[in-house]
Amino acid sequence: MRDDHDSSERKALGLKREGLILGIESSCDETAAAVVRGGSEALSNVVASQMNLHANYGGVVPELASREHLRNVVPVVRAAVEQAGIRLEDVDAVAVTEGPGLAGALLVGLTYAKALSFGLGKPLIGVNHLEGHIHAVLMEARQRAEAPMELPLLALVVSGGHTHLYLAEQKSEGVWSYRNVGRTVDDAAGEAYDKVAKLLGLGYPGGPWIDTLARHGNPLAVPFRFAKIKPRPHREGVSLPNKKAPAKLEEGEESFDFSFSGIKTAVLRYIETHHMRESIDARRRALAEHPDWRPGSDEAAALCDAETLDLIASFQHAVVGNLLRQAFGAAERYGARGIVVSGGVAANSELRRRFQSEADKRGLPVAFPSLALSTDNAAMIAAAAWPKFVSGDFAPETLAATPQLRLGGS
Ligand code: KG4
Ligand code: ZN
Repeated sequence: MRDDHDSSERKALGLKREGLILGIESSCDETAAAVVRGGSEALSNVVASQMNLHANYGGVVPELASREHLRNVVPVVRAAVEQAGIRLEDVDAVAVTEGPGLAGALLVGLTYAKALSFGLGKPLIGVNHLEGHIHAVLMEARQRAEAPMELPLLALVVSGGHTHLYLAEQKSEGVWSYRNVGRTVDDAAGEAYDKVAKLLGLGYPGGPWIDTLARHGNPLAVPFRFAKIKPRPHREGVSLPNKKAPAKLEEGEESFDFSFSGIKTAVLRYIETHHMRESIDARRRALAEHPDWRPGSDEAAALCDAETLDLIASFQHAVVGNLLRQAFGAAERYGARGIVVSGGVAANSELRRRFQSEADKRGLPVAFPSLALSTDNAAMIAAAAWPKFVSGDFAPETLAATPQLRLGGS
């Protein structure tokens, strides 16, 4: 009797280890679906990017994003299932991003995921997009069969919408906990990249343009500085107009918060005082005539004079330096055993180089996702859903899209 019980338990566990999770992501401007087996093996990872559509407006237009998600979600999910070589009925659970993100955009993925889960009779798992970014790195490490990184981990999630530092721990196989130990009080780092690229007449999104052009400039030409964010003891009920609340701190505790709006203003001031307007307008016109020019192309580099390249390189040097100081400072302060960097800005080549070299110096492991999993995708959502699947942490039918969803306490 007992044996039977054991073997059925083992069987159930075996099934769980093999479990196929269909992930769906639609929080911003990418409609994505993926099938991940056992939390580590991505059988497919399909992304329909709306980048070209939004590039015409220099940023994501929420209404257009929702419309495109509606158009794309069915074919993208179908493609993910086909590429995985499975049938929809083989899926063991449907995981979906519940927030944070654009309300209308989130709603498309969530509604479709709920309908699928209901129709298939398979559990629904709600995933925080930021947790997804962290699990992109962990999933790829498992895929490479590397020894798991020691915990706690300091995770820097840095994208167009977010700049957060989390202390991540695992309580048991199914339960991860996150403590938010730093966040931006204004713009996200990727937003600063996009805004500065726009100011300089470069293409959208700005990150890849600045990343490639910075290689041709002097990073020390313009000495940008970051002001220290004042530690602010948490006060209940105090609202900060137009600002995001800084992380909760004890009196006198060091802050690992970020602020990127100042450097954008400093770049604007530099442009004005160095009379760069005319050359910026010329570049904007040239790019409007040649929307096919890519950031790494010779034509793109030829659009910028030495002064502009120095400004770009200095901006990037300062931003990466700031991310690096805060991340390694927080890792030391909170006793992290490793660092993971994820989100769109984690694709940045200078960031990867400098984080790796600092980590080597300190003997602290650092990990990044592959370039494909740095930006938004659904494999990371299916991967983050895995521990919840194992522990049976399923979402109710009433699961709602939560645009301001937070990850962990602070
Ligand atoms: O994670 P993601 O795809 O979407 C959000 O959740 O925001 O990140 C997009 C952001 C954009 O701001 C883009 O400019 C930035 O990531 N980005 C980069 C690079 N590639 C993308 N920033 C710096 N260097 C890059 N190579
Ligand atoms: Zn993202």
